[in-house]
Amino acid sequence: MKKKILVTGGTGYIGSHTTVELIEDGFEVVIIDNLYNSEAVVADRIKEITGIKPQLEVFDLCDQKKLNTFFRKNKNITAIIHFAAYKAVGESVSKPNEYYRNNLVSLINLLDAMKQFHVADMVFSSSCTVYGQPERLPVTEDAPMQPAISPYGNTKQTGEEILRDNCTADKNIKAISLRYFNPIGAHPSGLIGELPRGVPENLVPFITQTASGLRDELKVFGNDYDTPDGSCIRDYLHVVDLAKAHVIAVKRLIEGKNKSTYEIFNLGTGKGVSVLEAIKSFERVTGIKLKYRITGRRAGDIEKIWADPSFANKELGWKTLLTLDEAMQTAWEWEKNIRKKN
Ligand code: UD1
Repeated sequence: MKKKILVTGGTGYIGSHTTVELIEDGFEVVIIDNLYNSEAVVADRIKEITGIKPQLEVFDLCDQKKLNTFFRKNKNITAIIHFAAYKAVGESVSKPNEYYRNNLVSLINLLDAMKQFHVADMVFSSSCTVYGQPERLPVTEDAPMQPAISPYGNTKQTGEEILRDNCTADKNIKAISLRYFNPIGAHPSGLIGELPRGVPENLVPFITQTASGLRDELKVFGNDYDTPDGSCIRDYLHVVDLAKAHVIAVKRLIEGKNKSTYEIFNLGTGKGVSVLEAIKSFERVTGIKLKYRITGRRAGDIEKIWADPSFANKELGWKTLLTLDEAMQTAWEWEKNIRKKN
């Protein structure tokens, strides 16, 4: 019998790509999503890619009654991959309580349900934002966390701490936090990808929307940083590579291969890329000359960060296989497809 994985936020950007990889690896998937930042049609697109439509339950994880009813009806869940969360850094500054309530109450509800319904394993969607600006690069998992710059970042730090404390308190609970660097790109089918609400905050959706004419120009936030070309440096990884890491992590827990009850892995390429280099990659693969302008720094941005992914390489046997150019190409194909449909 196929093992059933609960994917929360499974119609979202990383959740949908992970659902595809899980199904292709032989898992059954049930998604819980409140469709706050995604659309139900994503489940149909997943079917177009994999031939199997995942079960989709539309409700809010903050509603504990509904969550418990769900678990009572779905007794055969082996593990949970928890993506569902708000993720807009800027918005979190103006709506802190919405971020704390949504991102943390949902996690606590899930952990309570895991205990009550005897589900042992959770993979948690964390972020390199927990490191702030690291002193040493590339950054390893044991680098100290720094005070979060935004409520969003704080929900990731606190989420990790809640998980660690639950793994300590209850020996039946095992969890893995995956600290993503900057996920970009889309599925090569062009059927799923990132769907930002309103004006995108993130670089690559802003690049593709500018190229498609939806935005006048891209603002490059600063060229006076202490980096080779003066623009900020990040570690951009292809979302399909990232999705595959989740399949490996959830299997590690299910098969009991984890070395401790709570583990943390960096997921990145290990290579730093500047904003200007990212733009060049986009221009190279699409042949489009991007309209951009250097402006002042964005408040809260760190200068440079890239991962030391060697722990994930060694322990998970995972590494990124897809390139920055491939990520830009698929992001652009996806952008063109969305514009066609609307
Ligand atoms: C941000 C969040 C991070 C979150 C991640 C995913 C901060 C400090 N970090 O990462 O916590 O996990 O998004 O949503 O907000 N850039 C431009 N012009 C633009 C947009 C971005 O020049 O219009 C630059 C930024 O200055 C940055 C780089 O592109 O150097 C990447 O930005 P972005 O995609 O927003 O990701 P992060 O800021 O790294």
